[in-house]
Amino acid sequence: MAASTARLRLASSQTTNDLVLDDVTMRFQTREGTITAVDRVSLSIERGEFVSIIGPSGCGKSTLFNILGGLVSGYDGTVSVAGETVSGPHPAIGMVFQEESTFPWRTVIDNVAFPLEVKGVAKAQRYATARKFIDMVGLAGFEQRYPAELSGGMRQRVAIARTLVFEPKILLMDEPFAALDEQTRLLLGDKVLNIQQDLKQTTLLITHNITEAVQLSDRVVIMSFRPGKVKRIVDIRLPRPRRGDVVGSDAFGRYVAEIWNDLREEASRGMAESEKGALGRAGR
Ligand SMILES: Nc1ncnc2c1ncn2[C@@H]1O[C@H](COP(=O)(O)OP(=O)(O)OP(=O)(O)O)[C@@H](O)[C@H]1O
Ligand SMILES: [Mg+2]
Repeated sequence: MAASTARLRLASSQTTNDLVLDDVTMRFQTREGTITAVDRVSLSIERGEFVSIIGPSGCGKSTLFNILGGLVSGYDGTVSVAGETVSGPHPAIGMVFQEESTFPWRTVIDNVAFPLEVKGVAKAQRYATARKFIDMVGLAGFEQRYPAELSGGMRQRVAIARTLVFEPKILLMDEPFAALDEQTRLLLGDKVLNIQQDLKQTTLLITHNITEAVQLSDRVVIMSFRPGKVKRIVDIRLPRPRRGDVVGSDAFGRYVAEIWNDLREEASRGMAESEKGALGRAGR
């Protein structure tokens, strides 16, 4: 008994949390007054874990993403990355943004090779590696195109490849697949998951898509509508490696239903508030 307790303690002290939000609150001053975008959020993500955050529009997901990425300041609480308290970008983090973020003046291959260029990798080597990732996101043949010559979904795939190419230890992705059609989304999701499992990357994915969250994650964090709080965390106990056909299983369906149940409440609250806001403005 004593031995097993000791083992348990040892196991928990050995667990490394790569991303920790401790009691984080973020308020914005707007013309309409103060908005609490994120309200006392605490969350720890272990090394190698894949966690998704899901929640209605405007509940503070991108705000949390920017806080973890060290891109915003002025919040209460603390954030640590790879065991260090941070107040700016941490080099172990790679980010895929919700908005388009390709460099319009660079071709596809020069966009994707950019992080390797910064690292000082020789041209032939960085092009070879960039090609591998361009291929992976299904853009072989488009290496010499400029972002303006691609569709929105293709541009987003360039951004994904550019982040994956430098194999970050910690990967933060804000709706990376939102601009993609369902088939591409599923295929690319599988590929990102393979890389994540191979490299044991600590991954935080922000998504609106319940299927995607369940398919990829070890845990799904459901956020409430404003102010954004952690409403519930669901452990996804589906075996890995997960193949695409897991989506058809009964267990998968139960997780989707369970998460939708929580999410529906929050989404309805969000819609009711927007309607109230719109009526208020119309009456002014
Ligand atoms: N820079 C800012 N200044 C003022 N308000 C902001 C700012 N950034 C975000 N907000 C507000 O904070 C709240 C949360 O925004 P956030 O972008 O984090 O939501 P989200 O959950 O990512 O939404 P979506 O799913 O639509 O991307 C919103 O009410 C938004 O208007
Ligand atoms: Mg967002």
